[in-house]
Amino acid sequence: MKNAMEPMSFTSDRVFSDRGRLYTESACPGKRIYGERLFSIKGTEYREWDPRRSKLSAYLTVGGKQFPFSKSSRVLYLGASSGTTPSHVADICSEGKVYCVEFAQRMFRELVGTCETRPNMMPILGDATKPEEYAMFTDSVDVVYQDVAQKRQAHILCENMDAFNAKHGMVAVKARSEDVTASPESIFKDAEKVILDKGYKIIDCKQLDPYEKAHAMIVVGRE
Ligand SMILES: C[S@@+](CC[C@H](N)C(=O)[O-])C[C@H]1O[C@@H](n2cnc3c(N)ncnc32)[C@H](O)[C@@H]1O
Repeated sequence: MKNAMEPMSFTSDRVFSDRGRLYTESACPGKRIYGERLFSIKGTEYREWDPRRSKLSAYLTVGGKQFPFSKSSRVLYLGASSGTTPSHVADICSEGKVYCVEFAQRMFRELVGTCETRPNMMPILGDATKPEEYAMFTDSVDVVYQDVAQKRQAHILCENMDAFNAKHGMVAVKARSEDVTASPESIFKDAEKVILDKGYKIIDCKQLDPYEKAHAMIVVGRE
């Protein structure tokens, strides 16, 4: 580890890289969320962001360059699970807010513990297919990030972008959640078509191999 890390200036000044590994600046020094490595450099603590544990890290690691998150972004995170990736998003959006939606009770309990470490993360027990269930928490967000690994992934993204007037969206499409018999490429094309038909534009689409097999990250914007 060098004495200073380089921000990934082409994507974000909030994500740091050192010899191919990614890091976020920890909003809660000394606290690990999923056993990640912590490093302190000149009084600042960084958390390693593992591309095998986070599809957003995988997207950046395979060369994805479209990164709509900034320090002040308000993010609706769908499929938050126990909060692994949401905690890195919360480090990145340190002056914004991350609304974390999860519908499985057991994961939600762990998510609540993660959110206790970061005041800008809000846990919401809700179903991502029903935006009206969590509409009372906010009128609008800057970014909808979605990783629910269930059917109709592109539809769910667009319905939430519509409901919360988001300028950007990202969806980690898991091909096998849509149809185990179809080729992943055809599933990704179908997802792109849904997004275009809903009136949004595709900013990027990258497959996440070798970190996540048969997954693609699609980055979406408004026309
Ligand atoms: C692949 S995991 C998410 C991992 C997480 N995004 C991360 O990187 O740390 C998918 C999660 O989505 C949740 N999920 C699936 N369908 C959902 C829905 N309709 N509403 C809310 N959460 C959902 C599952 O319970 C699961 O915890």
